[in-house]
Amino acid sequence: MRAFGREVFERGRFEKQNDYYTGFWIDLMRIGSVYWSFADVLIGLQVLFILILGSNACIRGTLTAGGFIAMLSYNMMLMWPVRQLGRVISEMSKARISIERLRYIMNSDLEEDREGAGEMPAGDIVFENVSYTYPGGTGPVLRSINLTIPKGSTLGILGSTGSGKSTLMYLLLRLYELDPGEGRITVSGVDIQDIRRESLREKIGTVLQEPYLFSRTLAENIGMASQNAEMKDIQEAARIASIDDAIESFTNGYETFVGERGVTLSGGQKQRTAIAQMLIRKPPVMVFDDSLSAVDAETDMKIRHAIRENTGESTVILIAHRITTIMDADHIIVLDQGKIREQGTHEELMEQGGLYRKIYDLQTAGVDVTASTYS
Ligand SMILES: Nc1ncnc2c1ncn2[C@@H]1O[C@H](COP(=O)(O)OP(=O)(O)O)[C@@H](O)[C@H]1O
Ligand SMILES: [Mg+2]
Repeated sequence: MRAFGREVFERGRFEKQNDYYTGFWIDLMRIGSVYWSFADVLIGLQVLFILILGSNACIRGTLTAGGFIAMLSYNMMLMWPVRQLGRVISEMSKARISIERLRYIMNSDLEEDREGAGEMPAGDIVFENVSYTYPGGTGPVLRSINLTIPKGSTLGILGSTGSGKSTLMYLLLRLYELDPGEGRITVSGVDIQDIRRESLREKIGTVLQEPYLFSRTLAENIGMASQNAEMKDIQEAARIASIDDAIESFTNGYETFVGERGVTLSGGQKQRTAIAQMLIRKPPVMVFDDSLSAVDAETDMKIRHAIRENTGESTVILIAHRITTIMDADHIIVLDQGKIREQGTHEELMEQGGLYRKIYDLQTAGVDVTASTYS
């Protein structure tokens, strides 16, 4: 707010909301006070009524003094529960609203797997003629993507913002589903729609473009996705992801809280924590979605080397817009407006002298590559 000089505007907005809320409470209290005082007067009148009638009856001898006292105390006993009933009824209408909100979450659709869906096999990942349009989207985000990622190989994906790189990964993880006619994705020949989602997401580790860390300690965040991570595994993963030095520089080390109650990590530190979070699981497929964008080129290189030494048999998908991040990959595709514009190894693409070459030359000259470079 301060950076945009919007203090006055935001304060005004906050105060308006507060006034609105205060107004509601005052209204509620006003209605409540009328109602409760009215109820209290009624109760008082009723006690008075019993007192007068009862004492009259006593004097006339139609009621014993004992009966009168008993009547009076029964009435007193009843008074409180009856008053309470009024409160319970008003609480119930508040509860109804809360229950509606709970139901919104509890009744959301379950992700059901197909009947007979199995575990994810190990093998090549193949995109067959994949086209995709987001529900409610304006047009296709991916167009006729054909791509084979051999098991154990590294694929590099280069493309400008909005070219569909992340969408490709969301489809692989089945965060979005391909409808009939939009092609299919297979792993070792099995359509991913015939693989249990849980298995798919367990075997394909992903570092999202904007990683989310929980308000817990760094150690808990790194160990989150693996069942029985020990401290030494956590430290090892942090070391490979080059976040160990930063973590150890905090007073509480691995027990440092992340988020509002603790430290605020920089974009690059968050990315590296998320990388450690995935590395610790050693999944057979690893996806890095622009996960090194916020770290400097030198750290980028250090992490890539460390990762390469530790991924072993895993299939790796590296998404980046910095060519140096992906140039060692076994196969590279250049994505542009949802289409594969060029593909091959770094050498082949350099030879071709197309878009890849152009971006390489610009980046080695230190020029910032923007979306317009691709057009
Ligand atoms: N949930 C969504 N709903 C509709 N459109 C989306 C959604 N997510 C992304 N898009 C659009 O799809 C295109 C590709 O996005 P994305 O795959 O995130 O690109 P990249 O990762 O290459 O930057 C963009 O034009 C983006 O606006
Ligand atoms: Mg993206």
